[in-house]
Amino acid sequence: MISEQPSLLARTPAGRRATGIGPVIERYTTDFAFYGSGKAALYDGLAGLVSPGENVLVPAYLPDAVVEPFRDLALEPRYYRVRETLAPNRADLVERLDDETAAVVTVDYFGFPQSGLEAVASLLDDRDCYHVDDNAHAPISVDNGTLLGTRGHLGITSLRKLLPIPDGAVLYCNDESVAARLEPSSFAGVRDELGVDDCRHVLESVAGDLLEANATVRRTVERLIAERSASVPDPKARYEAGKTPMSRVSAAVVDAADPTAIRRARRTNYLAWRRCFDSRSGVEIYHETLPEGICPQVFPLRTDSPQRLVAALERCGVAAHTWPRLAATVRDDPAYAVARRLARETVALPVHQGVDPAAIEAVADRLRW
Ligand SMILES: Cc1ncc(COP(=O)(O)O)c(C=O)c1O
Repeated sequence: MISEQPSLLARTPAGRRATGIGPVIERYTTDFAFYGSGKAALYDGLAGLVSPGENVLVPAYLPDAVVEPFRDLALEPRYYRVRETLAPNRADLVERLDDETAAVVTVDYFGFPQSGLEAVASLLDDRDCYHVDDNAHAPISVDNGTLLGTRGHLGITSLRKLLPIPDGAVLYCNDESVAARLEPSSFAGVRDELGVDDCRHVLESVAGDLLEANATVRRTVERLIAERSASVPDPKARYEAGKTPMSRVSAAVVDAADPTAIRRARRTNYLAWRRCFDSRSGVEIYHETLPEGICPQVFPLRTDSPQRLVAALERCGVAAHTWPRLAATVRDDPAYAVARRLARETVALPVHQGVDPAAIEAVADRLRW
């Protein structure tokens, strides 16, 4: 089975350079702090900079829960349109910007740098408005010598998108005046003690590995999980659950990780999927090239028949999914036609370090849809 996430106990690549993730971050930036979630980091990053009643501009192509920290700060989230390339629609952004705009968020989707970033940066140059570089997807992705998330005034990344951990994120303060005004809350840093959640995470990982080995039990559990996930917690509940410091088990995995091996494995798997889809009709690959330094979160593609592709991949043992679940405001408004189409048609395939590239090659031979 090619799972969606790496397992804590499964064989993950490690070499002599298992330095942990911290030194990678330190190579590119000095001012950062750990959090339980990216959303908690967004809250803290903006708390000392904004006033209630102001607004924050976010791309319409965004998971529904990401604006919860802004609501918590009594800010109005305003969705701006995006282009088919995932770049911000500059004209729409200009229209929504006003004197009450405290910040504009851009997203480095799937571990690749946000396209059209220069246009946004030049727009904000003369304004009293912060730029947030949301690199939730790929903590160690580097573009032309810059760690994603460290552009703009502040940025975030979500460590659980990279590693088999229950929580974990980083807030980057990329600007001295922003760093000076940072007011860390009780959910900054790493928890002092092991908690119940740490033990639960380890137990779940053990159970997950046992299930890998037993197909019958696995199918039963998958059915139960599918039934339960019909009721995914609402965005606010997901946000509230992430308002904690990073857990001890996450900190331990972050410290033990081998960034070089992880980046290499993810890139190899990305290229294996690209070969699998290169000559197939009916799919559009977002990023044909994989520039040096990029550590992809997933292999994202677009297709007119996403459900058929997800089902075909599942028959080959691959856990793929469409992304993301949009905010209701976006889902219900035809003005966001592009974001809605992207969310319907984008399928994300796993490339994590627990995936064996040979398994992807085997899927390529069997995949019919
Ligand atoms: C673009 C983007 N930003 C922010 C977040 C929030 O990260 P976290 O889940 O760590 O709160 C996510 C989570 O999926 C995301 O996709």
